[in-house]
Amino acid sequence: MKRIAVLTSGGDSPGMNAAVRAVVRTALYHGMETIGVMRGFEGLMDGDCMTLDRAAVGGIIHRGGTILRTARSERFKTEAGQRAALVQMENRKVDALVVIGGDGSFRGALELEKKGLPVIGIPGTIDNDIAGTDVTIGYDTAVNTALSAVQKLRDTASSHDRLFIVEVMGRDAGFLALEVAVSSGAEYVVVPEIQLDIAKMCDHLHYSRKRGKTHSLIILAEGVMSAHELKNRLQDTGGYDARVTVLGYIQRGGSPSSFDTVLASRMGAFAVESLLEGKSGSMVCSICGQMTLCPLEDAWKSPKHLNPELLALVEKLSV
Ligand code: F6P
Repeated sequence: MKRIAVLTSGGDSPGMNAAVRAVVRTALYHGMETIGVMRGFEGLMDGDCMTLDRAAVGGIIHRGGTILRTARSERFKTEAGQRAALVQMENRKVDALVVIGGDGSFRGALELEKKGLPVIGIPGTIDNDIAGTDVTIGYDTAVNTALSAVQKLRDTASSHDRLFIVEVMGRDAGFLALEVAVSSGAEYVVVPEIQLDIAKMCDHLHYSRKRGKTHSLIILAEGVMSAHELKNRLQDTGGYDARVTVLGYIQRGGSPSSFDTVLASRMGAFAVESLLEGKSGSMVCSICGQMTLCPLEDAWKSPKHLNPELLALVEKLSV
């Protein structure tokens, strides 16, 4: 194996640059060259590529976003799009591809693998909703970004004896919301995986007020409903006048935490060394802190469950 390519795809996440750097530097260490593909699968089809030498990935380990840029591609879902991507890889004599992204990106990667290009995936998403791995690159940073905002909101909530709803990212999964709820000491967490019972929530808030709590925090995953909708429902059902904060895309940016930087560096190196061992069609996973591989399909075939202990903790610790 002489030349590999790397791309980032789907929503960006802090630590993607550290993963790109690790791929390039590990390839160099083993005497290989790396081609960086711009704008994910879009750039792959268009041949928007450049050689990444050691200097090209210097000074990026601490930067959020992705120097390779990213995209979500409808065109790549077609047979013609995938064939165009393979032609670009053949023309550049690329032996294998590393795809950094979420489950949608891995579905695309698998199509290329089936057509003959060796592929390894690296899980990068702030949602942490990829089965097969305990953690994904960017999740820890996003949790800490959201937590520091919620801690500020707690200050003003307590000064004014207010109820706050904080909407965090998570279209289909509540991992981020749950971790933020536990770490911020929130009274309630609302996640897509669990049916919301608005009357129960109002009772819970009512009893905590009766027990002397003067302010409360609700952490809401965006996929359930908007924070404004929840505010209206709390008003209608319990007469509560909640304040709303939507954290939005700030959660996807910023420098990666130490955890994400180390995770990304390990995953990037492991991906390259797995390709050298002849592995393909797999995703790099972190299981109990150990790097391992699982089939790419595992990313979406079985659901990843929220930790029931953490769910119970939110309730227990807000007595
Ligand atoms: O990166 C994952 C995620 O942040 C989801 O939680 C969110 O719903 C989605 O991306 C939104 O991303 P975009 O608007 O870029 O499609």
